[in-house]
Amino acid sequence: MVKKGIILAGGSGTRLSPLTKGVNKQLLPLYDKPLIFYPLSILMLANIKNILIIVNPGQEKSFRNLLGDGKRYGIKIQYKIQNKPKGLPEAFILGKNFIKKDNVALILGDNFFYGQSLTNKFEKSLIHKSGARVFLKKVSKPQNYGVAEIKKNKIRRIVEKPKKFISNFAITGLYFFDSNVIKYAKTLKPSKRKELEITDLLNMYKKNGQLSYEHIGRGAVWSDAGKIDDMTNVSSFVQSVEKVQGIKIACLEEIALYNKWISKDKIKKNIKFYGNCEYSDYLKNI
Ligand code: G1P
Repeated sequence: MVKKGIILAGGSGTRLSPLTKGVNKQLLPLYDKPLIFYPLSILMLANIKNILIIVNPGQEKSFRNLLGDGKRYGIKIQYKIQNKPKGLPEAFILGKNFIKKDNVALILGDNFFYGQSLTNKFEKSLIHKSGARVFLKKVSKPQNYGVAEIKKNKIRRIVEKPKKFISNFAITGLYFFDSNVIKYAKTLKPSKRKELEITDLLNMYKKNGQLSYEHIGRGAVWSDAGKIDDMTNVSSFVQSVEKVQGIKIACLEEIALYNKWISKDKIKKNIKFYGNCEYSDYLKNI
């Protein structure tokens, strides 16, 4: 079972500059909530309560002001500083004392997932005991992502941002790993963009026949919100779904209450914490 999750919320967010000059990317708004609420909600939906958030130097306080130690949502949040953005796999080196000998999920702090079918898929994958597991989504611009080529229901090749077309299946920013990930991550060498690459790590698992995948499918939405257009598009999407359906996406208290991790009393306290706002009005109704 996967019971621990890491959210990688470091990085300099240069693609969103000047927005990110004063504020961490993951604290910027995605419609009515900070971006970090969305990946955090995905871990919570996957029943993961033990969470490590990796942040930039000097930014832990802002994250703590917002999320604290997680008790507000019936979860446990710890923080770890990433001094320089050295690539996604560094999360496992920094998180080695957190992971110990357990399986772990990694979700990128700027990734947005939405769709009821996802919970089912995640639950199926959580049972996974060893190896690595990725979630694929068909995209129109695969050159912007890590991409997997599939042959006979198996991943044949993985390439980071392929210049030549190999497939439309992007590897989304949610990964499940066994604890060997720490050992593997330590052997990686920086790529041309001077970062450790998650795709190199996945290739190690592939070589050992230990990489599996799941298609996210058309019924669910995925977007990397690391660029301004993606961010505004996803914001409008969240606004539309919330307005049309009268629900909130990534309402952490709602998930925690559903999972029986918090009581209604806790929600009352949280309403006080947020103050008089639309999010609090929503909480009053759940
Ligand atoms: C990173 C990964 C890439 C993955 C993407 C998902 O890309 O390197 O493999 O497909 O996240 O969001 P980056 O955001 O570093 O360009």
